[in-house]
Amino acid sequence: MKTVVTRPIPELGIELLKQAGHEVLVLPHDRPCTREELLAATASPSPAQGVLTMLTDKIDADFLQQRPSVKAIANYAVGYNNIDIAACHARGVCVSNTPDVLTDATAEVAWTLLMMAARRAGEGERMVRAGKWSGWGPMQFQGMCVLGQTIGIIGAGRIGTRVAQMGKGFGMRVLYVHRRENEAMAQLGAQRVELPELLKEADFVSIHVPLTAETRHLIGVKELQMMKKTAVLINTARGPVVDEAALVEALKNQTIFAAGLDVYEEEPKIHAGLFALENVVMLPHIGSATVRARNEMSQLAAENLIAMLRGQRGKTQIA
Ligand code: DGY
Repeated sequence: MKTVVTRPIPELGIELLKQAGHEVLVLPHDRPCTREELLAATASPSPAQGVLTMLTDKIDADFLQQRPSVKAIANYAVGYNNIDIAACHARGVCVSNTPDVLTDATAEVAWTLLMMAARRAGEGERMVRAGKWSGWGPMQFQGMCVLGQTIGIIGAGRIGTRVAQMGKGFGMRVLYVHRRENEAMAQLGAQRVELPELLKEADFVSIHVPLTAETRHLIGVKELQMMKKTAVLINTARGPVVDEAALVEALKNQTIFAAGLDVYEEEPKIHAGLFALENVVMLPHIGSATVRARNEMSQLAAENLIAMLRGQRGKTQIA
């Protein structure tokens, strides 16, 4: 049994795979592998049955057709928009992701961005580092308060729900958009509303939907215009959910107060307009980047792969 791991990950999962008798080939580069590298690694010196993929690896019908030996894909991420699930299904290839273990880590980053954007922390830090700060000033860096404000959660899955729970600690009123009522949200006293109402009412809008054909550019010119001038938009989900060009204009024209981004439309490329703006906080897609979460993702992805290749159901198998 051969498994290709497309990029170095914490050892835990690699060890589990080896203990389960897998021959493990870890691609050594600290960058996304190219299609050619993936094709080569899964073919020689022997054909691979399992692939442990990153969110930057595209698994599509063409790849599956070229590598019929591959029977299971374990994605090292909760999001799996990089994988053509229908194509996997059609070829009987099993797929898993890594939910739960990164919920807290990603919710923490949403809150990091929220606080930084609201209180203009990025802008302030840049000024201090540049040696341009001339001392305390009564009119300096006035931001938005967080306590007791309204947070709007778009997508009340695991991460959205955790962000809302954290908001309760700040005495916030919670609104959410989701395809159905969510029990955990109801327990928080959160109110399920339609998107336009959430956008009009919320002081903070945090995005937690997966990237699908329906959610691509869910937030564009029209939606940004519905938001309060004092509102802050947070995206820790997937970049293409927000129309980045429209966001640049909205931030430039102060249609909204600020944004906090961990994800971008064409990673690692970032819209040039964002760099010129002070009212955006930008992080390098670090939602799940804690030691604990990354170890658990490694373990879970390996466990899934081992089970799926034994013909059993993976713990977090999605196809
Ligand atoms: C995921 O798991 O989908 C996250 O984006 C990784 O940080």
